Amino acid sequence: MSEQKQQGTATLTVDGKSVELPVYAASVGPSVIDVRKLYAETGHFTFDPGFTSTAACDSDITYIDGGKGELLHRGYPIDQLAEKSHFLEVCYLLLYGELPSKAQLTTFEKNVTEHTMLHEQMTNFYRGFRRDAHPMAIMVGVVGALSAFYHDSTDITDPMQREIASIRMIAKMPTIAAWAYKYSVGQPFVYPRNDLDYAANFMHMCFSVPCAEYNVDPVMAQAMDRIMTLHADHEQNASTSTVRLAGSSDANPFACIAAGVACLWGPAHGGANEACLNMLREIGTVDRIPEFIARAKDKDDPFRLMGFGHRVYKNYDPRAKVMEQTAKEVLELVGTEDSPILQVAQELEKIALEDEYFVKRSLYPNVDFYSGIVLNAMGFPTSMFTAIFALSRTVGWIAQWKEMIGDPDQRIGRPRQLYTGATARDYVPVDDR
Ligand code: CMC
Repeated sequence: MSEQKQQGTATLTVDGKSVELPVYAASVGPSVIDVRKLYAETGHFTFDPGFTSTAACDSDITYIDGGKGELLHRGYPIDQLAEKSHFLEVCYLLLYGELPSKAQLTTFEKNVTEHTMLHEQMTNFYRGFRRDAHPMAIMVGVVGALSAFYHDSTDITDPMQREIASIRMIAKMPTIAAWAYKYSVGQPFVYPRNDLDYAANFMHMCFSVPCAEYNVDPVMAQAMDRIMTLHADHEQNASTSTVRLAGSSDANPFACIAAGVACLWGPAHGGANEACLNMLREIGTVDRIPEFIARAKDKDDPFRLMGFGHRVYKNYDPRAKVMEQTAKEVLELVGTEDSPILQVAQELEKIALEDEYFVKRSLYPNVDFYSGIVLNAMGFPTSMFTAIFALSRTVGWIAQWKEMIGDPDQRIGRPRQLYTGATARDYVPVDDR
């Protein structure tokens, strides 16, 4: 945190004692009050479960204006990137801060393409899992195991090793995810093809089989690329914060990304796309929507409308708008544009956006509301949805991890607590209890 960012000071009075706390300005968005010296000066901690008002770092990568429904990567709006750019260019932008020149992009794409294969021994690792293992369970294990296979890129103090580990993970994630899928359906692993682009190669590894020719449809490949682009990064969300926290102990990058994959799996986070499609299927027909809306509003029912609401967006998630358009294109291609699931989704969205409960709480559709419909139409089983989210988010995790490693203010993450348990008491032998 550079001193020139200081905007002013805030005064806090605790137990009659006043302390001056520096206030730092953001380039856009809320300023922060620096409370790092608060404990030393007052003996108090701040209390903020869920980090609703706490910035854990400063970052140059991604900015969200939740009120406006705006998402910027290095300043570029997500809708422009989704429409005009493509996933690997966005990866470069996130990792290095600027859009690449033609030559830089060519070199970057070549580097990623040449690292897509997995160490052959890793096939044995897959075979240790049960056939019915969830792909995310396999992803957590295999990504963590990368550190057992690529020892030459685990020294986080060496910038070259950090760079190689980053390229390796971006390159290998589609292979890891595709093989998790192949294993679950009992088909042979399909090796990557260097003549295909990143998204098309992923689809090839998922859907081709040795006994028949498989050509990736360009509309499908573009939709896949768009899904990846829309999920590439999202500021300090739960999984990214998990990666940063794991990395703050100087853990190796593969272990940190495995931690991110684990966190993403939860249905409140990346698991929502799977949960959302399951919910749309359960609703089934438009006439059953009111029943589910009523359940979502009922405080005694744990049911929530999956794909709705967001900690930061209090307006339409800009990614959801792009995803809705992509859903229409893909469903048209596969000839299911009048599918009951799309009808239920569109009607549910309409009703929820007019319902006082959702309006009052600013609950809008998020990216996962439509992404499951698209992935389902592309032929992916629901269990693969979060794995595809994970492979797309890997670049964001890495960009944030690299930024953290280079931050001179970085220290091991160690939250404090408000202790509410028993005070010190003497041990009582078991016969006397
Ligand atoms: N359905 C019904 N009510 C909801 C929903 C929902 N989907 N989301 C929030 N609420 C209500 C909640 O009950 C609370 O009401 P009240 O003030 O009366 O107690 C109010 O809205 C605020 O909710 P919150 O739980 O305090 O909000 P949060 O910021 O902690 O949670 C969330 C954000 C995304 C976890 C939550 O909205 C949710 O569970 N949504 C469904 C899961 C989902 O779609 N997740 C994907 C997020 S986008 C992909 C990603 O980035 O991971």
